[in-house]
Amino acid sequence: MRRAVCPGSFDPITNGHLDIIARASKLYDEVYVAVMINKAKKGLFEIDERIDLIRQVTAEFGNVTVESFHGLLVDFCKQRDIPAIVKGLRAVSDFDYELQMAQMNNGLSGVETLFVPTNPTYSFLSSSLVKEVAAWGGDVSHLVPPIVLQALDQRLKKD
Ligand code: PNS
Repeated sequence: MRRAVCPGSFDPITNGHLDIIARASKLYDEVYVAVMINKAKKGLFEIDERIDLIRQVTAEFGNVTVESFHGLLVDFCKQRDIPAIVKGLRAVSDFDYELQMAQMNNGLSGVETLFVPTNPTYSFLSSSLVKEVAAWGGDVSHLVPPIVLQALDQRLKKD
């Protein structure tokens, strides 16, 4: 059984994330999406809401499991016998930090990181930008799945 994890904050999941998860799900038998909990960062969506959205949009792949985790990514991997982390690289600007994390994670536990070049359609896309544009009434319907758009509309209406 070949397993990999796609980790992130996913606040909320975007079409860019979904593209990477879809591609990982073709390469591996089982893909975990790890919603990493960062208590220092208050998100727009609660962890359970993020998990629910990701489960809905990845259900069609058939081999994706979504979980949250509070701790080191390498411990998530160790506990589930996952040897590989799959990450999207949007641009050279992502590379510095991603390389540091990949080297740190490999040094900590031997886990490998595989970088997948982001689909150029999404190379500018981030959850933060989606939230900012949506908060000011901009159209993000081409950047997130329809149920995420709905969740954003509802959440931003409330605030
Ligand atoms: O979506 P993000 O916020 O860019 O994802 C970053 C994330 C969550 C993948 C990264 O911060 C992470 O792995 N956090 C878990 C804690 C950890 O293992 N830190 C050491 C990284 S070398």
